[in-house]
Amino acid sequence: MKPCSNPQYLHLSMLALMVHDWLILLDREVEHVWQSEWNISKVLFIISRYGPFLDMPITITTHTAPYGAIGYDTCNIIYKIATWNTFLGISISESILLLRTNAIYSRSKRVLIPLSTAYAVATVAGIIFTWRYLRATLCESFAGSNG
Ligand SMILES: *[C@@H]1O[C@H](CO)[C@@H](O)[C@H](O)[C@H]1NC(C)=O
Repeated sequence: MKPCSNPQYLHLSMLALMVHDWLILLDREVEHVWQSEWNISKVLFIISRYGPFLDMPITITTHTAPYGAIGYDTCNIIYKIATWNTFLGISISESILLLRTNAIYSRSKRVLIPLSTAYAVATVAGIIFTWRYLRATLCESFAGSNG
């Protein structure tokens, strides 16, 4: 077994990095986020912070499963969910950047309106391209097995 060519090691190292990042920032998260009032910033932060903890085990399980262990239809469903989750994660991260930039510029409408417009255009384009991409792709490694 060659460590560099085995995706299990890559996935496990990403998981370790994610847990490490979560642990070293947890005290600040408890202080600044958990004790703050609920608003859109807090909701986006929590989705962005904890979404990967739902996502990562699914990705690791499917990417490291033995060949043929996951059926073609299941693979396609998981692939679609994972792809939309990735899109959602990117979109939420961008919206957090938008909120931060807006805060830096003292919530100026001259900054907020163009940024929100760009965000809306990018999000709609992203939805269209993700949808088209998923229509054009299949789980290749299972294509010959039963589908
Ligand atoms: C949400 O609440 C936090 C802490 O109270 C605050 O710093 C932040 O500006 C708020 N976000 C929005 C979008 O109002």
